[in-house]
Amino acid sequence: MSLKNKTIAFLGAGNMGEALIRGLLTAKTIMPSQIIAADVRPERLGDLAKTFGIRTMNDNVKAVADADIVLLAVKPQQMSAVLAPLESAATVRKLFISIAAGVTTARIEGELGGKVRVVRVMPNTPALVGAGAAALAKGAYATEDDLATAESILGAVGITVRVEERLIDAVTALSGSGPAYVFYVTEAMIKGGVAAGLDEALAKKLAIQTVYGAAKLLVESGEEPESLRRKVTSPGGTTEAALKVMSERKLVEIFAEAIKAAEQRSRELSGS
Ligand SMILES: NC(=O)c1ccc[n+]([C@@H]2O[C@H](COP(=O)([O-])OP(=O)(O)OC[C@H]3O[C@@H](n4cnc5c(N)ncnc54)[C@H](OP(=O)(O)O)[C@@H]3O)[C@@H](O)[C@H]2O)c1
Repeated sequence: MSLKNKTIAFLGAGNMGEALIRGLLTAKTIMPSQIIAADVRPERLGDLAKTFGIRTMNDNVKAVADADIVLLAVKPQQMSAVLAPLESAATVRKLFISIAAGVTTARIEGELGGKVRVVRVMPNTPALVGAGAAALAKGAYATEDDLATAESILGAVGITVRVEERLIDAVTALSGSGPAYVFYVTEAMIKGGVAAGLDEALAKKLAIQTVYGAAKLLVESGEEPESLRRKVTSPGGTTEAALKVMSERKLVEIFAEAIKAAEQRSRELSGS
């Protein structure tokens, strides 16, 4: 499905909904007239209409009726309440894209009353600055074309990959929760800098720019993380001394265990 002349209704226009709307309009993927935002907060709708010149309404059923593509962007615990009234408006002609963590395509299909085309997405918060990583999985009735449509929408706020739905829990554990791991490492680097004698503001400034610069170098050089690491690690040098401590404390095993724990928790939460 090309996005030309298509209308996308966002059910839930909070942080992620707004990030996607901004990304789509900035990339000129679609025009403001092709977007409807539906939310329970009138003040949010007012802001969005003013900022982006899009249609807004507080009626999900009407928004779905007017749309070709429905982007489900409410919190997971709000999903059932949002889906229940949509059953009659949900036909096989519409594509439903959900970004809600832990909500399976089977559950959405079931709550919408059957043969509905659903693509499930696991996004992450760097989408808020156009640097997201999203994994997409299709439900029982969605097509390859539906995946391509969802990619063109999510692609407006970062990179996209396709996975089988059974891998969404692993994706959640890696890239969904991953930004928090990097923030935690950044906090740890700041504390380390302070312990080594820097004042906190300076340690923070240097740590944040180092994380940003290292990520940019990874992306722009296309080099393997291991190769870039080796380049800054001269034998007998300072980096080697630091990495020796991390290796002795088994940092790699800690990450493997942490990501496994997140994957298991994701499974428990989604009942998969
Ligand atoms: N992997 C990740 O890191 C990641 C990151 C972000 C988001 N996500 C997923 O993205 C989804 C959206 O997250 P978010 O941070 O954008 O949430 P959010 O800011 O809370 O946005 C949801 C919006 O939907 C509104 N809403 C509640 N009930 C509604 C209803 N019945 N009809 C229409 N709108 C309704 C909410 O209003 P109230 O605030 O009044 O309830 C809120 O404005 C979540 O399901 C989350 O799992 C994943």
